[in-house]
Amino acid sequence: MNIVDTHSHVDMIEGITTEEVIQNAHDAGVNNIILPCAYPRDIEKINEFTLKYKEFYGLLGVHPSEARDWTDDLYDKIRVLAAENKKIVGIGEIGLDYYWDKSFNDIQQEVFIKQIRLANELNLPICVHDREAHLDTLNILKEHNHGSKVVMHCFSGSVEFMRECLNAGLYIALGGVVTFKNAVKSKEVAREVPLEKLLLETDAPYLTPVPFRGKENQPSYTRLVAEEIANLRAISVEEVASQTTRNAHEIYNLGEI
Ligand code: NI
Repeated sequence: MNIVDTHSHVDMIEGITTEEVIQNAHDAGVNNIILPCAYPRDIEKINEFTLKYKEFYGLLGVHPSEARDWTDDLYDKIRVLAAENKKIVGIGEIGLDYYWDKSFNDIQQEVFIKQIRLANELNLPICVHDREAHLDTLNILKEHNHGSKVVMHCFSGSVEFMRECLNAGLYIALGGVVTFKNAVKSKEVAREVPLEKLLLETDAPYLTPVPFRGKENQPSYTRLVAEEIANLRAISVEEVASQTTRNAHEIYNLGEI
């Protein structure tokens, strides 16, 4: 088994060491892990993690909830690190989050657009965070993204919205939510999404899949996500693993499988 956890905040996992995170992941067949960046202050930390551990790749960017902390000097900081370090494989996580705080949607949109342009300039894929902002997120991507591949991380929309995203050329990433008993929409998306458009992730330390719900999430649990999707589609977990890993390698240019 060879699985990629395409979105994991390994730097935020507190209960176990990074070495244990990697060992557990390997034991479950999760061999590569992509670390997104949320805060401006974490850009260097993510970069260093990817240099220290061969299993790790990194995304650089500012999360929509932190959009007020964006400053234009971050352009050069990200440009320099992306040019120096081939393990920086995308811009993320960026996007819109209207769930926590609606008071600065305009700033979120502005910072999202700035970072889309940066991804285009650097010819890097984009990892998108969209929470309760489906239409604005898709409209901004359609208008402002010119050429970067786009992954809708922790996809939370309906099958209808998934189809709109697929029509716009986007990829869909699913995580632990598909294992939740009441996650009817997510299970439906997991059944309907074309396998060649699907990526797996954990969003660790959050959104821990069943049967570990309530405990801290970790990349090894991507295996549980793959198993649930395989069950829902009545195919083998190997098939889910091999196609989603191929997708991750293609989108994020991770090199030979
Ligand atoms: Ni995340």
